[in-house]
Amino acid sequence: MTATVRVAMLILMASIVSSLLLPADSRAEEAQHAVLVTGASTGIGRLIAEKLAADGHFVYAGARKPADIAALSAIENIQGVRLDVTIQSDIDAAVKLVESGGMGLYGVVNNAGVNVLAPLIEIEEDELDFLFDVNIYGPYRITRAFAPQIIESQGRIVNISSISGTLSGPLYGIYSMSKHALEAYTDSLAIEMDILGVKVIGVEPGNYKTNIFHNRCDRMMARGYSAEGSRFEAFVAPRVEQCKNRPVDTDPEPHQVADAVARALFSDSPKEHYLVVPEQRQAGWTIQKALEEVASLNEDHEFSYSRDELVEMLDAALEPPVE
Ligand SMILES: NC(=O)c1ccc[n+]([C@@H]2O[C@H](COP(=O)([O-])OP(=O)(O)OC[C@H]3O[C@@H](n4cnc5c(N)ncnc54)[C@H](OP(=O)(O)O)[C@@H]3O)[C@@H](O)[C@H]2O)c1
Repeated sequence: MTATVRVAMLILMASIVSSLLLPADSRAEEAQHAVLVTGASTGIGRLIAEKLAADGHFVYAGARKPADIAALSAIENIQGVRLDVTIQSDIDAAVKLVESGGMGLYGVVNNAGVNVLAPLIEIEEDELDFLFDVNIYGPYRITRAFAPQIIESQGRIVNISSISGTLSGPLYGIYSMSKHALEAYTDSLAIEMDILGVKVIGVEPGNYKTNIFHNRCDRMMARGYSAEGSRFEAFVAPRVEQCKNRPVDTDPEPHQVADAVARALFSDSPKEHYLVVPEQRQAGWTIQKALEEVASLNEDHEFSYSRDELVEMLDAALEPPVE
């Protein structure tokens, strides 16, 4: 064996040993995985795509406008893909494209989402159709279409829900309905897909600065949304004013959400849900609401639990999750 070959072998052995010494998570993060992100043109989806690509993964980034697809494709490790989650032919073409990419598919991030605000007894039915088509039927269609590839890779599905998956408020009814439904979808899917070796995780962001507010306003203004004649003028009028005045969004950029998605995708033992909020009070609203629901469900029937029993259940639920 020549000296050069001996040196080459030593370098190879050293790199094998050092990779074995790395924590499992770091090894997983080092490997390049292919991940599909829907709604990657702006906001949370864009940051998720950029973060995963910067971490060395390959991202199929779904977008609708040619300019967005081109801008995404210009980023290293990202391929922009035409993908409207309400159009089955787009989805079928995206499945074929990923199949022909030859990298398999480790992850799907169901991120595309829209928001509309209006009182529930005044909102038109076609607004529900519009919102559910994207926020609920979208993840359902995408997951169903890419499931064979995700099962093949024993990969992950991450659904971008919201604190509105727990909270409900005036005017937020149909958005909350869609995110509550997404929570149920995520939990049932997680149980079913676990049988097939696939993990399904929900990420629940609080309020972050993205295009969602402007998109919502554009739609509401285009449809002539007005407080006039509403039975809920006190709630509707400030929202209409807000849309007209377009105040500066002071919420932070959603980098924390992108970080949580990366953990959901690549942590060895991901949590079932990642609440990601930029400030304490948004966590407070959400946790408080969940606890109030427990108290209300437990109240005033013959099978109620005592306070001590509830505390015992809470303690059991608080067992630290393994991440
Ligand atoms: N921002 C927040 O504070 C917040 C909080 C909780 C949860 N979320 C959730 O985060 C997700 C991303 O929203 P965002 O805040 O980042 O808003 P955003 O900037 O408005 O991004 C929404 C994305 O969804 C895409 N989209 C809309 N309709 C689509 C369709 N039919 N097919 C495919 N893509 C479609 C948009 O594409 P176009 O550019 O082509 O319209 C855009 O890429 C949503 O599910 C939202 O509910 C956001």
